[in-house]
Amino acid sequence: MPEILKNGPPKFDTEMWANIEAMKVGGQGTMGGSIQDVTEFITTLPEFPNVKNMCDLGGSHGFYTMALLDKNPQLRGTILDLPKVAELAKELISEMGYAERIDTIGADIKTDVSIGEGYDLVFASHVIYGWKGHLKDILKRINKAMVPGGVFVSNHLSMDEDECGPVSGTMVELMTRLMGYPTHHLSEDELKSALESSGFGDFTVRPAEEARQYRCLILAARKLKGGNRNV
Ligand SMILES: C[S@@+](CC[C@H](N)C(=O)[O-])C[C@H]1O[C@@H](n2cnc3c(N)ncnc32)[C@H](O)[C@@H]1O
Repeated sequence: MPEILKNGPPKFDTEMWANIEAMKVGGQGTMGGSIQDVTEFITTLPEFPNVKNMCDLGGSHGFYTMALLDKNPQLRGTILDLPKVAELAKELISEMGYAERIDTIGADIKTDVSIGEGYDLVFASHVIYGWKGHLKDILKRINKAMVPGGVFVSNHLSMDEDECGPVSGTMVELMTRLMGYPTHHLSEDELKSALESSGFGDFTVRPAEEARQYRCLILAARKLKGGNRNV
């Protein structure tokens, strides 16, 4: 830590995500409350009974997608992640018995142009932090890949307005920045405002719960009919 504080963080190594053990541990970690919260939130959206194609952006282990597929027999999923992670995800999906209903796309969403098309649900969990300050860049591309009226759902850590709490959030933030990654939290205001300028509106929000160890804000936004008005 003293070295990093004096000389600055190293270049962030995306290889850390391409590790099957880490992916499984991450997936198991979601079962301690997050997957339940997200599944309850998404399955009670009025659109859920009619969704057919979903994309799990930076989906890694794919456990969120699997939980949603279990609740809707007509739903098919796509896990989009970095090429090496997508390869490992494909094996895990097969191991878990979902190969018939979940595809994978290996792509770097920072550089690759297309993230697919025709999605009526796009889910992004702990992945768009990297665009903090310029969220519109990724949100406009997500919007373009969705059908009008489609739903985008974000699941990301959120901190107090002054960014000084909760303690768990500050610890995650410290580790994140020491590793050379820009941040690990997004505020509701920043997210909503970027979504509004990227062709989304009509929000449904599940506020981050104070009592939780990790405070996640789950937010749904609809792609406005008439397209991406501000692009
Ligand atoms: C912190 S993990 C979150 C995994 C899962 N969504 C969850 O919430 O448990 C971040 C994931 O986003 C993926 N990711 C990060 N940057 C990406 C990029 N530029 N393109 C595609 N995937 C990316 C990583 O490979 C990793 O699987």
